[in-house]
Amino acid sequence: MKILVTGGLGYIGSHTVVELQNQGFEVVIIDNLSNASIEVLDGIEAITGKKPIFEKIDLREKQKVQDFFKKHGDVEGVIHFAASKAVGESVEKPLLYYENNIATLVYLLQELQKKESSSFIFSSSCTVYGQADQLPVSEDAPVKPAESPYGNTKQIGEEIISDVCRVTPQIKSIALRYFNPIGAHPSIEIGELPKGVPQNLVPFITQTGIGLRKQLAVFGADYPTADGTCIRDYIHVVDLAKAHVVALQRSLNDRNEGNFEVFNLGTGKGSSVLEVIQSFERVSGVKLNYEVVERRPGDVIRAYADTKKANEILGWKAETTLDEAIKSAWDWEQKIRN
Ligand code: UD1
Repeated sequence: MKILVTGGLGYIGSHTVVELQNQGFEVVIIDNLSNASIEVLDGIEAITGKKPIFEKIDLREKQKVQDFFKKHGDVEGVIHFAASKAVGESVEKPLLYYENNIATLVYLLQELQKKESSSFIFSSSCTVYGQADQLPVSEDAPVKPAESPYGNTKQIGEEIISDVCRVTPQIKSIALRYFNPIGAHPSIEIGELPKGVPQNLVPFITQTGIGLRKQLAVFGADYPTADGTCIRDYIHVVDLAKAHVVALQRSLNDRNEGNFEVFNLGTGKGSSVLEVIQSFERVSGVKLNYEVVERRPGDVIRAYADTKKANEILGWKAETTLDEAIKSAWDWEQKIRN
C-alpha cells in the first residue's frame, strides 16, 4: 500500500517513514529540502534496507501537486508533515507561514477530494491549547487564541480539514497534536538537524554540551512551578512516529468515529527545564553551562498530555523514558559532529 509522506526528510517525517517501511508500507516522500537534507534518504535506507521513492516538490506549486497525484494515483494515504515551524519567524513573516502551511494543505486536500477514498494524517500541535486551564490536557480542552501565526496555522489547518471532511466522507482524517518531540532513532542513522541556532531546548542543550554553543539560556526560573522553570511533555520521536502508523492504520481500516478525529501525543509526564538539564548531565556525564535569563514571551507555564484517548482508542503508548530519549539525542549530536 502506497503512502505519501510530505516533509518525509524532516525530523518527525523521516522517523515516521522508517516505521512505515518497517510495517511494510511503500512510501513516497515529497520534500522541498528547505529544512532537510537529501542524505536523510541514506539514513532511512541504512535502517530499513529500503530507499523510499523521493520527489523533490514544493507543495506551494499547485500544478506540481496535481501532477504528482496523476503520476501516483495509487496513493491511499497521506501523512502531512511539510510545514514551517519556527514561532519567532512566523511573527516576522506571517504570509510565508500562511502560504507554506495553509495553501499547501488546501492543494493536498483538493487532490484527495478527487479520490474514491483516502486517509489523511495531519501534524498538529499542543500549541492549539495555549495555557490550558486543566492539566493534564485532554483533547476536549478548548482551543485558545493562537499566540503566533505558526500556532494559528495549526488551528486553521485543523478547521479546514474538519470542514472538508464534513462534506467529503471518503476522506478519513486524524489530526495528531504533538507535545514536545525529542531524541533520535536508536541506530543514530537519523535525528534532528536544526539549521542555524536551535530554537528548541534539547538540540540547544546537546549543541552546548558538545561545545558548539557557549551557554544555554534558561528562559525564566520564576514561574509558579516546583523549581521555577516551565514544564513540558517531552516525547521520544520514535514513539511519536509509531503513533502515526497506528493512526494511519486506523483510518485506512475505516475504524474512525466520524471521519475527523483528534489525538494528543505525549507521555503524560511533565518535566521542567532544569529536570531536562539534569537528565542530560546524567546520561552524558557532561556538566552543562547554563544561565537563567528573562522569560521568553509566549511561553506557557505548563503543558503535558492526557494520554487516555490515544492509549484507549489508538492502543498506543509512549514507551521511552526521558533519560533514554535525551541519551539518543546526545548520541546523535556526538555522531554528527565527529
Ligand atoms: C515550541 C513552540 C511550539 C512549537 C514547538 C515546535 C513556543 C512558545 N512554542 O514549543 O508552538 O509547536 O516549539 O517545535 O515557541 N527553553 C529554554 N532555553 C532555550 C530553549 C527553550 O529555557 O534555549 C525552554 C522554554 O522556555 C520551554 C522549554 O524549554 O519552557 C521548551 O521549549 P521549546 O523546545 O522551544 O518548546 P516549546 O516552547 O514547548
